[in-house]
Amino acid sequence: MATRAPFLTTRFGGYYHRDVPKEDAELTHVGPGTPCGEYLRRFWQPICFSDDLRDLPLRVTILGEDLVAFRDLRGTVGLLELHCPHRGTSLEFGLISTRGIRCCYHGWLFDVDGTILETPGEPVNSTLKDRLCHGAYPMHEYNGIVFAYMGPPDQQPPFPMYDSFTRPGYRLIPGQKYFYPCNWLQILENAMDPVHTAFLHTIVTGSQFTDEFGKVPELDFTETPAGMIYIATRRVGENIWARMVENVLPNLQQVAPVWEDGHQVHPFSGPMMSRWIVPQDDTHTMFVEFRHVSETEGATPSWWADRNVMLPGQLADADSYEASERRPGDYEAQVSQRPVAIHGLEHLGATDRGITIFRQQIRRGIRAVQAGRDPEGLCREVDTCIPTYCNDTVVHVPPAPTPEEDQQLMHTTGRTLAESYIQQPPLVAGRSRR
Ligand code: FES
Ligand SMILES: [Fe+2]
Repeated sequence: MATRAPFLTTRFGGYYHRDVPKEDAELTHVGPGTPCGEYLRRFWQPICFSDDLRDLPLRVTILGEDLVAFRDLRGTVGLLELHCPHRGTSLEFGLISTRGIRCCYHGWLFDVDGTILETPGEPVNSTLKDRLCHGAYPMHEYNGIVFAYMGPPDQQPPFPMYDSFTRPGYRLIPGQKYFYPCNWLQILENAMDPVHTAFLHTIVTGSQFTDEFGKVPELDFTETPAGMIYIATRRVGENIWARMVENVLPNLQQVAPVWEDGHQVHPFSGPMMSRWIVPQDDTHTMFVEFRHVSETEGATPSWWADRNVMLPGQLADADSYEASERRPGDYEAQVSQRPVAIHGLEHLGATDRGITIFRQQIRRGIRAVQAGRDPEGLCREVDTCIPTYCNDTVVHVPPAPTPEEDQQLMHTTGRTLAESYIQQPPLVAGRSRR
């Protein structure tokens, strides 16, 4: 657990508040053998896009491990330890072969499963290659993203299929891949912090999404079988707009459309994006996007189908540091929380309930793995479609006659929507409207 700084109650009291507590290592450290690292390794993790693997190997760092990804000339993808087991040369300089990858230094050849196929400099009767393997991880390609399972081989789960991946009328396309120099957890926490969409993305910067995001919403937070959602409810004219964004355990975000303005009544919209937040190490993180693109006219804007177009507000301002200061977005807000955010310096308020719940979920998962159990969110059933809940829903509700009643109505409606999507069978059936 994190250590805690004293609560400062003295004016001009900076002198009493200089010590920085330790980070919460249990929740944030991801290297081999760390509690959180072992937890994250129980789930399939994205490594790169399929079209990143062309004629050259790709060096990657995932969960503190230096690795090389490649596609051999048969079309099979591999993920191996970066350094050759002979004398350590990096396989990023290797030769992609018909079967596997060959080290550039002395020509040892490795298959995608770590089998050493050839040691050409050794005597012909050498059994060295038959007695050793190189480190390798199982891979799975799905819709343009290459995933790896980096946990204990006997604990490998099936690749998870979420219902949002097979929504009628939509197709998945790979989107953007980008990097933040900070810890993974504070990035996931941002998705359970709906108030920042009003301030950071609208009031502070001008509308990065739509103007209607600028109204601070009524808030609710609910755990789901696969993770948790927030429900941010706003009045827009005669409508009530409930926005639900989701963290799927442990490190997948599903984000509702940022082009929503709440003016058109519609049922469950589903997400615009499923985005993994993959730790490279404790202080560097990779985003990997799937975009949900409608097959029919108008349900998603055309710019969203162009994977070269970046979602607004996600990257540091390319122009200058001053430009970042003048118009900060998610990058500035999250990276500036420190390389690893210090929980022992925070003062969490009522709007931070989602942060607290998510940390509790991650901690439970870590401790379950330590205790030899499967963590929440891990599905071992084959051919199962895992339900998820990210969406916008807009309903027509005429304003109540007084501000006090209106406030009460919004609150009541938000709860009803939350309960309906999570708990009540009739509205689970209603989800088939997607
Ligand atoms: S270091 Fe790779 S074959 Fe010698
Ligand atoms: Fe944001």
